[in-house]
Amino acid sequence: MFEQAARINPEDFIRQNTALTETPLVPEVSLYVASEFLPLWQMTEEEMAQAGLPPPFWAFAWAGGQAMARFLLDHPGYVTGRKVLDFGAGSGLAGIAAAKAGATHVTASEIDPIAVASIKLNACENDVMIEAVESDLVGVMDADWDVVLAADVCYEGPAAARIVDWLGRLVAAGVTVLMGDPGRTYFPKSGHEKLISYAVKTTRELEDTDLRNTSVWRLLPPKQG
Ligand SMILES: C[S@@+](CC[C@H](N)C(=O)[O-])C[C@H]1O[C@@H](n2cnc3c(N)ncnc32)[C@H](O)[C@@H]1O
Repeated sequence: MFEQAARINPEDFIRQNTALTETPLVPEVSLYVASEFLPLWQMTEEEMAQAGLPPPFWAFAWAGGQAMARFLLDHPGYVTGRKVLDFGAGSGLAGIAAAKAGATHVTASEIDPIAVASIKLNACENDVMIEAVESDLVGVMDADWDVVLAADVCYEGPAAARIVDWLGRLVAAGVTVLMGDPGRTYFPKSGHEKLISYAVKTTRELEDTDLRNTSVWRLLPPKQG
């Protein structure tokens, strides 16, 4: 199974299975994403697994990422002149918006090697510089990020708990943490303030609805005493 995956050239795979498409809420950014007219859209998780590939999260502009990107482009002060991590970047949408909004350096992290290739392609297509790394950075406390973006990363229970715990520790250490989320089950119920909400256009195949009310949140530092 993994031999098959190893034979795939990620950049070729992305170009063959996606189309460069304007992002609905963020028309300033175009991304290589799947559409219902392309075979990737039809492939089930089982078929992807048989090909040795994780689900293609990178092939969609998720509601959380769209909200985060819109917010950063409209409120660049959160990232201008700052070093930013786009954690669980997928297509790289939030990181691309941060770079366009004037971040001095953007790192985008992913655990899926095809996502890393897609971030590189999308950054190039949108004329921004992003350092895309294939790494699970959860738990890393000694990097020099000023701002961490986490868009639509609370979709699995144990993973979300681990991620949110780490993000909380980053906030306590003085890092600004912004999360984009459309009300996923495992998004934390407290410890944050809402900065903005958008009605984000999605597809019924992906989200069972055409619009998702999606917010950008800032995680709050732990209360003293
Ligand atoms: C639902 S997608 C969201 C992608 C993007 N942020 C967006 O909003 O469009 C979640 C992504 O998080 C990535 N991911 C999950 N756990 C991760 C980890 N520990 N480190 C880096 N990426 C991770 C997955 O591979 C997936 O691409």
